[in-house]
Amino acid sequence: MISNEIIEEIKKKANIVDIISSYIPLTKKGRNYFGLCPFHDDHSPSMSVSPEKNIYTCFVCGATGNAITFVMNYENVSYLEALKILANKLGITLNIKETYKKKDNYDHLYEIYDFSNKFYQNNLNTSSGHEAREYLKNRGIDEDIIKEFKIGLALSYDKSLTKLLIQKGYKEQDLVDIGLTNKNDYGYQDLFVNRIMFPLWNTEGKIIGYSGRIYNNEDTAKYINTKETIIFKKGLNLYNYHRAKNVVRSSGSVIIMEGFMDVIRAYSVGIKNVVATMGTALTPEQAQLVKKLSHNVILCFDGDKAGNKATFACGNELLNIGINPKVVRLESNLDPDEYIIKFGVKKFNEKLNNCISFLDFKLNYYKEGKNLNNNEDLTQYINEIITEIKGIDDEILRELTLKKISEEINISFETLMSKLFNEINRDMENLRNETLNNFPEMPDEEQNFYMPEFKPKKANKKIVVKPVVGNKYDKAEKTILYFLLTDKEMSYKLENSLPYLPTKICRFLAHEIMYFVKKYDTIAISDFLNYLDSKTELVNLVGEILNSKDKNIYSQEEIPDCIAVLKEYNLKNEMDRLNALLKSETDLEKKIELANRIMSLKMGVENNERNQNV
Ligand code: CTP
Ligand code: MN
Repeated sequence: MISNEIIEEIKKKANIVDIISSYIPLTKKGRNYFGLCPFHDDHSPSMSVSPEKNIYTCFVCGATGNAITFVMNYENVSYLEALKILANKLGITLNIKETYKKKDNYDHLYEIYDFSNKFYQNNLNTSSGHEAREYLKNRGIDEDIIKEFKIGLALSYDKSLTKLLIQKGYKEQDLVDIGLTNKNDYGYQDLFVNRIMFPLWNTEGKIIGYSGRIYNNEDTAKYINTKETIIFKKGLNLYNYHRAKNVVRSSGSVIIMEGFMDVIRAYSVGIKNVVATMGTALTPEQAQLVKKLSHNVILCFDGDKAGNKATFACGNELLNIGINPKVVRLESNLDPDEYIIKFGVKKFNEKLNNCISFLDFKLNYYKEGKNLNNNEDLTQYINEIITEIKGIDDEILRELTLKKISEEINISFETLMSKLFNEINRDMENLRNETLNNFPEMPDEEQNFYMPEFKPKKANKKIVVKPVVGNKYDKAEKTILYFLLTDKEMSYKLENSLPYLPTKICRFLAHEIMYFVKKYDTIAISDFLNYLDSKTELVNLVGEILNSKDKNIYSQEEIPDCIAVLKEYNLKNEMDRLNALLKSETDLEKKIELANRIMSLKMGVENNERNQNV
C-alpha cells in the first residue's frame, strides 16, 4: 500500500494541465485549456481543463474528474496503478515493493498445469491417441497448430493424470481445488477422460484450465470446462488474449468470436488478432480487456440466432465503455470455423473488410420477429429505433438514419424527427433535474472530483464578433435567437410553437435559453454565459448574435415570418425526400400515394408563402 501522506503529495503536486497535456495536446482559451476528449470519438475540442478547479470535464460525453481519474481512464488502470504512474511523472519515489500487490503464490498450481499439459500432449502422440489425431486431422488442424495451441488428449481412467501427479508429490486437495481431479468413492480420479484437451490461458499466458472436447461421437456434453477456481476465472480472461495482445498493435483491430475452435481456425489461416468469449456473455471485465487491446473491435459471432443475440449483447457491453464495434454476420448459420473451411480465407477476409456498423446491425436486429404491418409491432420498432438514434452524436448520421427508417416504414421524416426531438428534450430535462436534485455531498478532500453546482454570478466573458451571413433560413434562426436572448417573454411565447431549427447549434442554444428562462425566470446575459460555462461554441454564437450588425434590422414583428420560413424549410426538406422516393419507386400504387403526399405538402408550402406575403 501507498501511505496516505504520499497519496496527498501526489494529489497536491499533480497539476491537472501538466498531467493531461502529457497525454493530449491542450490549448489555452481564457482561464481554461481545451483539447480533444479521449473518452469519446471527438472531432472538435470538447474537453475543458480547469487549472483553478483542478478538474477536467467533457461537455459532450460528460467525462469529469481529476488527474488520478484521468490517468485511470486513459490508461485503463486501477487507482493504485494510476497513483504509481503519477508518482513516476512527478518524480516522487515510492517503495515499489509496497505498491505492488503481494505477488500471488500460486506458482505451484501453475506448475501442476504445465505438467498436466505436457502429459496430455504426450498422450496425443501415443498409439492410444490415434483416433484423436485422426479427428484433428479431419478437422484440418495440423501439427503446427496442435503445437502452438498445446492441444493434448486425456485418455481413460487407467492412464490417470491424478495418479502421476500424486506420485510426483503434489497434494490431492490442490488437484481437486484447481479442477483436474474429482474425489469420489473410488478415491481421487481424473476429471477429464477421453477428451481432446484444449488448454486455456490467463492474460499473462499461464495455463489455468482446460476445455475438453469429445471426439468419438459419444453422446455426452460436447465440451467440459474447468470450473471456477482460485486461478481460473472465466469472466476475467479471453481465449487467446495473451497471443492477440502482441499482434493487435500491428493489425490495428481485434476480432471477437464465440468459440475457441473459431479462433484456432482463424489463427491457422493467418488472422491472429482474434479472441474468444467461449460461449458466454461478455463480462464488463472482459470488455475492459478488449478495450486495452484496441478500440477498433469487430464482432464475428456464429451465424445462427444465438450468435445474433450474442452480437447484440456483446456490442452493447462494449458501447457501455465507449467502444463502438463493427459487426460481421455469417450466412447459413455458419460459425467462423465452418465459414473459413467452406468458403476459404479470402472470402472470410472480404467479410471482415465489409463489416457493418453496430448501429446498422441493431436497426436490422430490432426488425427481426416483428411484423411491421402490425401497428403494435411498428410502434415498438419506432420506439426502439428512436432510442438508438438518440445515442448518435453525429448529426448527419442521425438524419441519414432517420431518413432511411422513414422511407422504410413509410412514416414522414418530420414526424420521426419531432418525436426524436421531443425525446431528447425530455431526457435533457430529466438529466438536469437529476443532477440538480441529487448533487452529492462529498467530504472536503474529495471535492475536486466533482463539478460545483452552478450558481448565477457576474462573469466577463470575451465575446467573439462575427457578422451574421447566410440565407433566409439562417437569418430566421438568428432572429428568433436574438429575441430569445434579449427578451425572456419570448421564451414563454415560443414554448410550444418553436419550429425545428435546421442548424444543430442554433437548436441547442434555443433549448438552453428556454431552459434557463424556465429555471431562473431571467435572461440576464452575463449569468447565462456563465451558465454555459465551457460550452465555447454556444458562448461564441451568443456573442455573434448579440453583436451582429443585423440586429438593428431585427424586429419582433418578424417572428411569425421567421417561424413560417423555417416551417417551409422543413417542409421542403420533406418534399425533396419524397420526390427522391417517388423517382425510385416502381410500384404504381405507392407512386400515386407518394405523389398525393407531395401535393398536399406543396399546398402547405404555398399557403405558407401566401401568408408571408400578406
Ligand atoms: N461451449 C461449452 N460447452 C458446450 C458448448 C459450447 O463450453 N457444450 C463453449 C466452448 O467454449 C465453445 C463455445 O462455447 O468454444 C462456442 O460453442 P460452439 O459454437 O458450440 O462451439 P464450436 O466453436 O463451434 O466448437 P466445435 O466446432 O468444436 O463444435
Ligand atoms: Mn464450430
